[in-house]
Amino acid sequence: MSEPILEIDHLQVEFRTDEGVVHAVDDVSLTLAAGEVLAIVGESGSGKTVTAMSLLGLNRSPNATFRGSARYRGTQLLTASEDELRAIRGAEMAMIFQDPMTSLNPVQRIGDQIAEQILAHEKLTKAEVRDRVVELMDRVGIPRAAERARAYPHEFSGGMRQRVMIALALSCSPSVLIADEPTTALDVTIQAQILERLKELKDETGTAIILVTHDLGVVADIADRIAVMYGGRIVEEGTVDEIFYDPQHPYTWGLLGSITRVDRDRGERLPSIAGLPPSLLAPPEGCHFRARCPHEFERCGQGPPLEDRGAGHPDRCWLTVEQKRARRVVDDGEIGLAAKVAVEASPEGLVDRRETPPGAPSRVAGDAGAAEDARVAEEDR
Ligand SMILES: Nc1ncnc2c1ncn2[C@@H]1O[C@H](COP(=O)(O)OP(=O)(O)OP(=O)(O)O)[C@@H](O)[C@H]1O
Ligand SMILES: [Mg+2]
Repeated sequence: MSEPILEIDHLQVEFRTDEGVVHAVDDVSLTLAAGEVLAIVGESGSGKTVTAMSLLGLNRSPNATFRGSARYRGTQLLTASEDELRAIRGAEMAMIFQDPMTSLNPVQRIGDQIAEQILAHEKLTKAEVRDRVVELMDRVGIPRAAERARAYPHEFSGGMRQRVMIALALSCSPSVLIADEPTTALDVTIQAQILERLKELKDETGTAIILVTHDLGVVADIADRIAVMYGGRIVEEGTVDEIFYDPQHPYTWGLLGSITRVDRDRGERLPSIAGLPPSLLAPPEGCHFRARCPHEFERCGQGPPLEDRGAGHPDRCWLTVEQKRARRVVDDGEIGLAAKVAVEASPEGLVDRRETPPGAPSRVAGDAGAAEDARVAEEDR
């Protein structure tokens, strides 16, 4: 593995609010090597976006406190000046947000928005910029790019708008691309196509990617490593194979059990992890997942630190590797978490009865421009 270009060390982010201090990110350490894809996965409120935004100084405010370190090629991002950050944003590290409509200007043509972004960092003639815009739109898979460059954001489908966001982010050939839930609002098949495009672009340009998502299913094909976040902390980190085939943390088992699958019927309900994430205003002592964990025992009230307990990659669960391998539920080759209600105390600890957790509504939503996206997908092939 090459030298990391991004190194996050013991990052801690807190926000002072009227209700108290929100401990949004607690002791997060991560590295990203050139050309690598790191996925940060976790439920809503686990601190993924705060971690990502802290790198680009996008959540600085008088109420926010940042501790630890985040270095990009030697620059300390947490204390960098606004001028230093401006030079890094876009050109070195670019970010794609979840909702393209909030990032695109509704009254400016798509092509002009991309051109503006290019011209902010490079001096080119009008004709050169026009060619570059069309080439970029073409590369992210927007058909009839020359013509579509004249369209406005509302004339694009959700999937097409997200492709525009990727084109914008790639316009200055950044070394790091942070994609925060870039496909969550889209239909699962469109998600898969856009991620596939992102992967191809990464292979062509060598851009390293941090992919933030709550769905482990979308990262399997694109990520090299996965960091699982829960309650502001990383609870497990490993390669894609380690996380999918030998997951150590019960929370990871739960996430694996609630993966969105392209082959699942739309109406089918996905199993989810029972219960809610902890309040980050007053996080529980010890393991943040223990209130929802069917395998909780006394020791969980303290620690546990993120460390390798013999599985070859680190996690934050006190159970031994043998206990973990025995207790995760394997159903039809797929790993999941036993339901908390189905667990009984026994003298040697807790025994699960391997029931499927109650279902939750599918997140797979329709997309206004799905038909167009599907057509483009056909053309992509
Ligand atoms: N500026 C802020 N002030 C106060 N609290 C904040 C602020 N920004 C984020 N938080 C809180 O920090 C926690 C982590 O939020 P974050 O947005 O990082 O979650 P996330 O993992 O990205 O979730 P999602 O999947 O919903 O996007 C949440 O409890 C959120 O309410
Ligand atoms: Mg988020």
